[in-house]
Amino acid sequence: MDCRYFIPGPVWVRPEILAEMTRPMVGHRSGEFRQVMARIFPDLKVLFRTKQNAFVASCSGTGLLEAAILNCVPRSVLVTTCGAFSERWFHIANRLGLEVDRLDHEWGQAVDPVKLANHLAGRHHRYDAVTITHNETSTGVLNDLETLARVVREHSDETLVLVDAVSSLASAPLEFDAWGLDVCVASSQKGIGVPPGAAVFAVSDRAMARSESEKYKGMYFDFIEFRRHFEESCNVPYTPAVPIYYALAAQLEHIVRGEGLEARWARHRAMRDSVLAGTAEHADPLGPPGHESPSVTTLVPKHGRTPRSVVDAMKARGFTLSGGYGRIKDDTFRIGHMGDLTTADVETMLAALREVFAEPPAK
Ligand SMILES: Cc1ncc(COP(=O)(O)O)c(C=O)c1O
Repeated sequence: MDCRYFIPGPVWVRPEILAEMTRPMVGHRSGEFRQVMARIFPDLKVLFRTKQNAFVASCSGTGLLEAAILNCVPRSVLVTTCGAFSERWFHIANRLGLEVDRLDHEWGQAVDPVKLANHLAGRHHRYDAVTITHNETSTGVLNDLETLARVVREHSDETLVLVDAVSSLASAPLEFDAWGLDVCVASSQKGIGVPPGAAVFAVSDRAMARSESEKYKGMYFDFIEFRRHFEESCNVPYTPAVPIYYALAAQLEHIVRGEGLEARWARHRAMRDSVLAGTAEHADPLGPPGHESPSVTTLVPKHGRTPRSVVDAMKARGFTLSGGYGRIKDDTFRIGHMGDLTTADVETMLAALREVFAEPPAK
């Protein structure tokens, strides 16, 4: 299937997965729906590489970022930032009236583990949690989550590691248990390759214990309720977006037992490498070498071209790329290569991009 849609989410969705969403409606407390959930829960654990807890909720990823803070941060949190999405944690915690510190990095840089270690070492009080955004979708930078999480672990057992994996889960290697993560969140419409409408999350036993003692965390996103409904009835606490769950069950089946998670990671790496090689002469990646995201490439055009002119020229050829995001909106454009796109799709898109780059820049 020839795909011409290269934005960093919502991603192109395979027709057979879209078709799953047209199944007849069922009550979410019915045996039929429980069977759907009985397929989803174990596959989520495979996706997150965890033997602990994994759930799904009917909201976008941001809802669960807020849930992570609500359940795990009674007082103070350190937010590591390096772009628009990593800053979102700050706005959430700030609006919840919590004590928030920021460890800022320039947009386009990766979060520095040494800077993080030094910051934590210089504190008298322990933070309840540190937030890390695995893949910064605005800048195309993949942070070294394993090392950053280890720095927090080595600092204190009381400081939980809250991770935004919205644009990395199912695209980049992520080991929830082995890396000692505490909450990890992703949206359905990114690397998983399902339409928007659900978000998935893994929760460590330590984070569950924190949630148990957290009194004021609201009701809708209470992790303890998610665990209770899973344990008592293999279900979710409140009415789910049923069609998305049909699609999710089928797509997880494909990822886990069809393509295979490691093959999926390798395909994303290959798509990224093709994009970097195919654009090198005419655009520079924003991020530093070694941190190139396998799911989205953020580029600064060379030779006097504007990002907008590149996106428009590709649109005229039938290919949808993405403009920049946040305060680098006008300086960059982005090529999403996540979900079920193939390297052949990417090569077709790059052939059109070469045509665009061969033309003189628009005046
Ligand atoms: C890294 C990252 N975090 C959070 C979000 C927000 O996710 P959602 O739109 O599913 O709430 C996005 C969306 O692009 C993202 O890329």
